[in-house]
Amino acid sequence: MKEKVMLTGVRPSGNLTLGNYLGAIKNFVDKQGTYDSYIFIADLHAITSPKNPQKLKAAIYDCVAMYLACGVDPKKTIIFKQSDVLEHGTLGFIMTFQTKMGELNRMTQFKSKSQAQHKEGVDTGLFIYPTLMVADILLYNTSIVPVGKDQQQHVELTRDLAERFNKRYGETFFMPDVYITPIGNKILNLQNPLEKMNKSDNGNNKGTIFLMDDIEVAKRKIMCAKTDSLGKVHFDEENQLGISNLMSILSKITGEDFESIEKRFDGKGYGEFKKEVAEVVANLLTEIQTKFNRYRDINLLDEILLNGAKQAQPTASETLKRAKKALGL
Ligand code: TYM
Repeated sequence: MKEKVMLTGVRPSGNLTLGNYLGAIKNFVDKQGTYDSYIFIADLHAITSPKNPQKLKAAIYDCVAMYLACGVDPKKTIIFKQSDVLEHGTLGFIMTFQTKMGELNRMTQFKSKSQAQHKEGVDTGLFIYPTLMVADILLYNTSIVPVGKDQQQHVELTRDLAERFNKRYGETFFMPDVYITPIGNKILNLQNPLEKMNKSDNGNNKGTIFLMDDIEVAKRKIMCAKTDSLGKVHFDEENQLGISNLMSILSKITGEDFESIEKRFDGKGYGEFKKEVAEVVANLLTEIQTKFNRYRDINLLDEILLNGAKQAQPTASETLKRAKKALGL
């Protein structure tokens, strides 16, 4: 047993994107083995929007296979499905009672997603989504949570609620830290760099690179990415958002720093720069897709999920017991 625990999760809603990989999964993979590592499929979080059950089931398997394809190693990491470990629901329910309506109202993800649901009425599930995430994190005594910038607020809420609970009922929960890297924590939409790259890309998908995109299509998306008229490959998030986003993608994948990229492309056009970014992304996707096709085997994935739930459940159960005891339940 290592001393510290790392945990993260992804919603199995649609195809995973380059943003998911660079903002969260890659950071997780780079650190697995140095922590007791857990990665899960946030399937309960995926039912906040109505889903076709067959599609959801397929998306769950896709998500596990994608974890493996991105380098998550089941020998070093416990891979499981949130809904297989029933403690998530119970602790989520308990944590809802530690939370103020105002706190949940302030969540920026809730604000933006509830706007989309406004016409038909906003689901309660969307509102309490963060308290389930709080439970996901606290159940495993997590010390670091690799996520993209958009999830930072939820991890901060987790810290607030853990602290509140510990103060009210005695030391029960471990205090987690968010793990966000300076580069790649918010990959932007290639067509509208004012927005985050999202799984749902307003229907046309030109601004989002999906990890399963056809390689030529992905390259074209990079070549057509919105840039500016300054003509200088330079990292400047105020005036050159599009170019800065492509630099982040390149740097995060290859490890080359911005200064070196700027030097290499000094005096050269955007076309040449984009071509290199497109090649690097194409190589990454080719490698991921080859592995994905190898691992997308239901028997293998079922075995991984079954083992994962068995390994994850005892810790979750211990934490829940501690919380129930503290509450007098
Ligand atoms: P989800 O499924 O929306 O996204 C999965 C991870 O990908 C990151 N991400 C990005 N990072 C950089 N740039 C982007 N454009 C980008 N888009 C997505 C997200 O920040 C996230 O880390 N609520 C979570 C799932 C979850 C979870 C948890 C995560 C449920 N419980 C407990 C950590 C711990 C979500 O919806 O992520």
